Amino acid sequence: MCVHYSLDEGGLMILVTGGAGFIGANFVLDWLQRRNETVINVDKLTYAGNLCTLKSLTGNPLHCFVQVDISDRSALDLLFSRYAPRAVIHFAAESHVDRSIHSPEEFVQTNVVGTFTLLEAAREYLDRLDDDARAAFRFLHISTDEVFGSLLPGDPHFCEMTPYAPNSPYSATKAASDHLVRAYHYTYGLPVITMHCSNNYGPYHFPEKLIPLTILKALNSESIPIYGDGQNVRDWLYVRDHCSAIRTVLSHGTPGQTYNVGGQNEKKNIEVVQAVCDLLDLLHPKAHSSYRDLIVSVSDRLGHDYRYAIDMRKIKIELGWKPAETFESGLRKTVQWYLDNQHWVNEVQSGEYRKWIEFKYTNVRKSQGR
Ligand code: NAD
Ligand code: DAU
Repeated sequence: MCVHYSLDEGGLMILVTGGAGFIGANFVLDWLQRRNETVINVDKLTYAGNLCTLKSLTGNPLHCFVQVDISDRSALDLLFSRYAPRAVIHFAAESHVDRSIHSPEEFVQTNVVGTFTLLEAAREYLDRLDDDARAAFRFLHISTDEVFGSLLPGDPHFCEMTPYAPNSPYSATKAASDHLVRAYHYTYGLPVITMHCSNNYGPYHFPEKLIPLTILKALNSESIPIYGDGQNVRDWLYVRDHCSAIRTVLSHGTPGQTYNVGGQNEKKNIEVVQAVCDLLDLLHPKAHSSYRDLIVSVSDRLGHDYRYAIDMRKIKIELGWKPAETFESGLRKTVQWYLDNQHWVNEVQSGEYRKWIEFKYTNVRKSQGR
């Protein structure tokens, strides 16, 4: 276990896993801008975890970063007994679908075994708490809409009762972790809440995912790869809206319940990529051409889910949460952020990142130009 910053024990605190990744880091930064409550940030620092995202917290006594694998039970036990958190927000996971298709093993290890280990540590910790502390404790599990499978064009949106039908190794491991979380509530009474959210986007998004990859490829004048015909549909949620949904659920959600969170922005992939190109044409124009000229269709993802769409009436009606950003406002902020933060982009493009991009996109089959 490697503790980067230390702090006094005692006082209210939350324990966040995966807080050096995209959503976890946005959550930690957002939390510490708004609250005076300590965050114990537990992250293994895989290729997707970046301490440079958390640089602005250096020296902040309310942030304690600990480099730990969530599969390491004794390290977790030590953290629970030393810091006595009032809540766990569990983001840590292997999160990239394409990587899960290429090498699924790590996904089983972290998403299933890691979540199981964390649940066991939390269960034992809770057994030692008094009744009040136990009743106040929350375990928030950050899941995904992908566990519900794939929709056809006219199908109704995913609601909390939609049966599970995960299609990729990634979504299958997330589904497995959801079932474990649910079972720990039913069997042991652990006060868990699971959130299923749609595709997040925004600052600090690792550039292996569609939106940041498109921005980087465009700025480097490289081909922008669209899988297949680009007609697959995703719902897009601005990451800071996801953070506000998590804070809402932490404060007002009911243990044992699940909540769907979406951005109300269903878009075809080609529309998303074109929108990014159009924003770059506006904010960072090229001399004689549009960034759209760089878009190429490449071989499709294996088992590519066609459409995800979220019915989020439950969180809206029961907890009064709704997203603040439209797709247009969120995407503009995102593109501008990448233009203004080239140093972050350079820092996260490690050797491992370059290896993946080379493996994935060099010599990809171009099925047609656009
Ligand atoms: P990410 O890949 O950007 O970050 C994951 C973080 O977890 C990294 O910092 C990594 O170092 C850490 N991690 C990985 N394995 C670990 C381990 N064994 N122990 C400790 N830390 C470990 O992921 P993200 O996009 O920020 O996603 C966060 C969570 O939200 C995940 O659970 C993901 O399934 C879920 N989710 C993501 C999206 C999305 O659009 N990004 C949408 C829905 C749900
Ligand atoms: O729906 C929530 C999920 O969203 C999360 O659970 C995952 O952790 C997160 O990675 C994301 O999964 P997707 O597979 O939807 O995201 P990705 O950015 O990889 O791809 C978005 C869409 O764009 C998808 O239909 C595949 C397509 N795509 C992706 C890449 C990387 C392309 O067309 N070209 C690409 O190069």
